[in-house]
Amino acid sequence: MAEIEIFGGGTLRGELSVQGSKNAVLPMMAAAVLNRGVTVIEHVPDIQDVRCMMEILCFLGCQCTLDRNGRMTIDAGTLSGSCIRKEDMEKMRSSVILLGPLLARQGKACIYYPGGCMIGKRPIDLHLKALRQFGAIIEEDETTGQVTASASGKDGSLSGAVVELPYPSVGATENAVFAAVAAEGESFLSGCAREPEVAALCHMLNRMGARIFGIGTSRLRITGGLPLHGCTVRAEGDRIAAGTYLIAAAAAGGEIEISGICSGELSSLTSLLEEGGAVLYREPRRIYLRQDRPFRRICVKTGPYPDFPTDLQSPLLALMSVSGGGLVEETVFESRFKTAQELNKMGASVTVLGQRAEIKEGRCLRGCRVRACDLRGGAALVTAGLTAEGRTLVEQSEYISRGYEDICRDLSRLGGKLRYCGTDT
Ligand code: EPZ
Repeated sequence: MAEIEIFGGGTLRGELSVQGSKNAVLPMMAAAVLNRGVTVIEHVPDIQDVRCMMEILCFLGCQCTLDRNGRMTIDAGTLSGSCIRKEDMEKMRSSVILLGPLLARQGKACIYYPGGCMIGKRPIDLHLKALRQFGAIIEEDETTGQVTASASGKDGSLSGAVVELPYPSVGATENAVFAAVAAEGESFLSGCAREPEVAALCHMLNRMGARIFGIGTSRLRITGGLPLHGCTVRAEGDRIAAGTYLIAAAAAGGEIEISGICSGELSSLTSLLEEGGAVLYREPRRIYLRQDRPFRRICVKTGPYPDFPTDLQSPLLALMSVSGGGLVEETVFESRFKTAQELNKMGASVTVLGQRAEIKEGRCLRGCRVRACDLRGGAALVTAGLTAEGRTLVEQSEYISRGYEDICRDLSRLGGKLRYCGTDT
């Protein structure tokens, strides 16, 4: 079992350019399936979920390589399959966003309910409802979890539709965009997710020859059925990784500079950190943070972009546990407070009542053995370990490697004392 050992107590100081965005790269890899040739994605993080997506693309007949500089080349000209193995689907949530591209390219698809971090039920009903509106015939087998889909149009095509998403689901928006780009005629999507990763996907598809209007808003007008070709795109820096490290610096104290990200994508976090007493200076692609006084009590509610991101909720719990405390309301996932019990083992005082958590003011945690139970919860425990007295051991740190290319490398570069240990299973 992989573990991370952290010796807490020091402040963080230094500069760091963050990895490419996991949640931008995964849908971009799915978009490459729409091109009968070579697509190049740069600044790809070498993380578990990317490796898993590469395996699935290769299983489907694509050629996929990732070099040491983060440059990924996907040749989907050799795509032959339309079915994804159950064991591959269960490794991560993002496998489900291949449903739209496979339907678009092959006219059919066979997948299974996806896996992913256990942070809620995470159904795919919104994905399937949207795809049905483009003319997909979809059958689900609740017992095996198998989902089979076929395009009902002539020669397996999809047709343009007016789709209103009842909730701005990121994945369902991405699958709806894929279907609309391939469908014959115009499509009008409303209620779309506005996450920067969705906008990045739409910009990439336009670079491939699609015609998407309204990018970055909740309403998209898409002219489908246009011929698509390859392109070379560069993934933006990972805003969640950047936010994790800013929160870690606010918790441990010190001063850091994060670069390689679009700072405007982190506005909800930076304004919250300033409210708590952090000193921040921002440029379009850099953020400087100084924390040299006790962080104040804050209250926050997570929500779809541009609200405070649910993916930073767990790291924020760690910060609040060693400072003025406060209140957190989680509105996106049903069970994303599992890390609270691990933080409490370290001396925090987090009380969870349904979708709300109350964090008592705290000053110092004590290092001990804790267990990661999901990707961002694991990052929160590393953050807590940086501030705790003594040694903290985070078990099941393979969860963290799913989304952070090398959290030990990054935080060590900022002065943190941590390393991998244990056997990486
Ligand atoms: C994406 O997941 C991200 N993952 C998540 O990041 C992120 O937390 C989430 O968006 C919200 O921002 C990737 O982009 C790979 P959703 P996704 O569909 O698409 C419910 C991380 O740590 N829902 O927006 O799965 C769902 O259960 C990960 O990097 C339905 O009910 O999120 C959830 O409560 C974790 N039916 C809410 O919507 C559906 O068909 C938001 O889910 C789809 C979703």
